[in-house]
Amino acid sequence: KPTYRIAPSILSADFSRLGEEVRNVVSAGADMIHFDVMDNHYVPNLTIGPLVCEAIRPHVQVPIDVHLMVKPVDRIIPDFAKAGANIITFHPEASEHIDRSLQLIRDHGCKAGLVFNPATPLDYLEHVMDKLDIILIMSVNPGFGGQSFIHEALRKIAIVRRLIDDSGRNIMLEVDGGIKIENIAQAAAAGADTFVAGSAIFGKPDYKLVIDAMRGELAK
Ligand code: DX5
Ligand code: ZN
Repeated sequence: KPTYRIAPSILSADFSRLGEEVRNVVSAGADMIHFDVMDNHYVPNLTIGPLVCEAIRPHVQVPIDVHLMVKPVDRIIPDFAKAGANIITFHPEASEHIDRSLQLIRDHGCKAGLVFNPATPLDYLEHVMDKLDIILIMSVNPGFGGQSFIHEALRKIAIVRRLIDDSGRNIMLEVDGGIKIENIAQAAAAGADTFVAGSAIFGKPDYKLVIDAMRGELAK
């Protein structure tokens, strides 16, 4: 079995008590914190930026996984690195120069990755596999938490799993959107090893109960 990681998305956390929320979800067993950045331009919603990343950084030891849903991307990358991000991913169609953006992330000491929307072709991967530490497959259209899982994403995950295995590289395969206790095993079977879950975790009173149940599904 691969090493599985559960990455709660704080998009569904209580923002008025964010420090407490991230501490609680890490005590409940989160392997990393998924941090959704939306700009009301690339996606129709506006969320949090480097200041909030910096504010939560001292509250958790686990990696902070910054998912950029912004356009352009380059300008904000150094700010997130300075704010304590460990992983930075962006959508290839939001960058003018994908190779340069990936390199910029690594130059700032972070792990770099590309994110694919449900309808974004995987062609972008062809020439950059050596610059990737993580590939994120969206199983909803980006912009909001609490949407339902788009089934076609499973086929895409399976294709990317094959590409990663063929490359022989150590690249994480993350899935984001509509992940719940009921479907996490399917995403794992398709080849994902890192699972973002927002509403499924923060929408319940007991985060540990949900994370434990997810791990139980992954262990089956
Ligand atoms: C969607 C975000 C996701 C979202 C996941 O644009 O990238 O990370 O918060 O939320 P759930 O798990 O509720 O679909
Ligand atoms: Zn996300």
